[in-house]
Formats: sequence, C-alpha cells, structure tokens
Amino acid sequence: SESMEKQLADALKSVARRLDIKEYIDRDPVMNQLLKKAADRYVTGEQRQQALHTARELESAGYAVSLEYIGENTQSAEECEQAVQELSALIREAGVDRKGARVSFDLSHIGLLLDTELALRHLLELAQQAEPVGIELFISMEESAKTDRILSVYTRAVRQYPDNIGITLQAQLHRTPEDAVAQLPAGARVRIVKGAYQEPESISMPRSEALDTRYVELVEYVLQQGCRVSVATHDEALIDRMLEILQTAGADRYAEYELLYGIRPELSRRLLDRGQPVRIYLTYGHEWYLYLCHRIAEYPPNLFQAVIDILSE
Ligand code: FDA
Repeated sequence: SESMEKQLADALKSVARRLDIKEYIDRDPVMNQLLKKAADRYVTGEQRQQALHTARELESAGYAVSLEYIGENTQSAEECEQAVQELSALIREAGVDRKGARVSFDLSHIGLLLDTELALRHLLELAQQAEPVGIELFISMEESAKTDRILSVYTRAVRQYPDNIGITLQAQLHRTPEDAVAQLPAGARVRIVKGAYQEPESISMPRSEALDTRYVELVEYVLQQGCRVSVATHDEALIDRMLEILQTAGADRYAEYELLYGIRPELSRRLLDRGQPVRIYLTYGHEWYLYLCHRIAEYPPNLFQAVIDILSE
C-alpha cells in the first residue's frame, strides 16, 4: 500500500504541475470566480490594501509579516516597471507604521529574464526606498536555471545594503551548502526553504530524511556565520527538531519561524504560544492563480482542498 500511496502522490503531482489555470480563468468568468474561492485560502486579495489589512490583524495577534506582490517571469520592460512601482508603493505604505516588516519578491518579477543589470538596478532602487523606512527586502529563490543569476544580483546588492537585503536558499539543491559558504557575507539575512520546484535528481534531492538533515545543517551553518535565519517550513517534525537545536545552542534569538498564510495556521499559533518569533508570509495580486498553482504543485492534496473550498458556502 506504500507503493500505491507513492503512485497516487506521483500521479497527483503530475496533474498539479500540468495545471494551467490562467487558460481557464481567461476563458470563463464562472471558472474565474470558483478558482478564486480556492485561492482565497492562500492569497489575501488582489489589492495591496487587503494585504496590509490582513498584516495589521496578524501583527496585533503577535506575528511579524512578509508581504509579496505576486508575479514572476515578467517578459516586458513595461510590466517590470509596473511591478517596481507597485513594490515601491507597498514599501512606502507598509513602512508608515510597520518597522521590521519584510517585502519579498522574485527577481524575475522585476527584470531578471530581460537583463540581469535591470533586475539589479530595480533591486537597488527598492532598497534605497526600503532602508530609511525600516522595511527589509527578501529575494525569493526560483528554478535552478536562475540560481547563478539570482545569487550574483544578491551578492552585488547586499554589499550596499547589508542590513536590508536577504536571500532565500533551497536545501533541496546539492549546490546550496557550497553557495552558503561562498555567497553569504557574515551577518547575512537568510531564509532556508526545502524548495518548491521539481528539479532533476542529478542536482536536487527529493523530500526525505536526508533532505531534512541537510536543512538542519544549513540552518546551523548560517547561524555559526552570525546570520539571522528564517526557518521557513511547515514540517512539524523538522520544526520540533529546530526548536530543540536552537534552544540548546542558545541561538534562538537569531532565528524565527516563517510560514505561508493559509498553510497550517494551527502550527504557527502553537509556535507563537510557546513564545517563538513567527512571521507569516502574505501574498496579494492579480496573478493569484500562479500562487494557487505553486501551492497545489508542492503539496498535491491541496487539489482536494481546492475542490472543498470551491464547493463550500
Ligand atoms: P514539506 O513539503 O515536506 O511538507 C511538510 C508538511 O507541511 C506536509 O506534510 C504538510 O502537512 C504541510 N505542507 C507543506 N506544504 C503545504 C501546502 N502547500 N499546503 C498545505 N500543507 C502543506 N520555495 C522556493 O523554492 N523558493 C522560495 O523563495 C520560497 N519561499 C518560501 C517562503 C516561505 C516563508 C515558505 C514557508 C516557503 C517558501 N518556499 C519557497 C516553499 C518551500 O520551498 C516549500 O515548497 C514549502 O514550504 C513546502 O515545504 P515544507 O518545508 O513546508 O515541507
């Protein structure tokens, strides 16, 4: 039955990865409405104000927040410019009463596919606005074909804004331990994730005990380097391991737990109740269907959840 379970999981994964929701929502307004119901679990809304409203609610409950304006792989200079303008407005408005909030984005949303220098220029422009208002910028990590370019933009920008720009590293990639050694300045701000993209096994590790061990080792390594780390996972067993290790090492002052909005909220609550710093990652934007696809692809049972959400009142 274990092999049947694996076969079912693999089959669901391939269905999830082939979903092209945009095609349906463009064609059919009813489908648009229904899928939006499924996305509501994970996305605060289409507008910045909705994300900021949810951020305020979470902050008054004791959480810190990350904010993402959804988008990736932007193909034209105008769309990149539009994304940068939205991110500027987000930084400005979030910075009014929210020191310590984080704004997260993909570099491919602000120009990486067009020109690495354009993405760097945009990142520096945003950092210049974010630093004086106390907002931290965090770069997400995308598919492995972009890792070199993302790290190169990060290392050049972080020299100018060491306290304001952070980077996400994917434990699943075999290259990541070396990247951590070679690319992170002392005191860097780092988010460690398992990795959301399906990559060939020659360069990446599937979900496994070995991946969890590598995850723990990466967190330990970056903490030894004086980095501030966000342990970004919903894996309860892994979080329990991290809690113990960090407390024993006295390193818990430099670590926080970061979870995606709508995923395992009871786990974030439990961490908060234990006095741990918890950050919730909120998203908003018109491209909510992209985000829904990612959440389904990384955890195929979410397909069933989506159906339940669509059918519920
Ligand atoms: P894992 O996938 O092993 O799941 C462990 C358990 O968590 C599951 O059994 C289930 O209970 C629960 N769970 C996990 N995912 C779920 C889901 N979608 N819905 C419901 N339950 C779920 N990735 C990336 O490649 N680049 C990036 O920049 C980022 N950024 C990022 C920021 C933050 C704050 C988080 C939390 C995650 C990311 N990710 C990411 C995604 C990350 O790589 C990974 O795909 C997800 O976190 C799922 O993996 P877990 O570590 O949660 O464990």
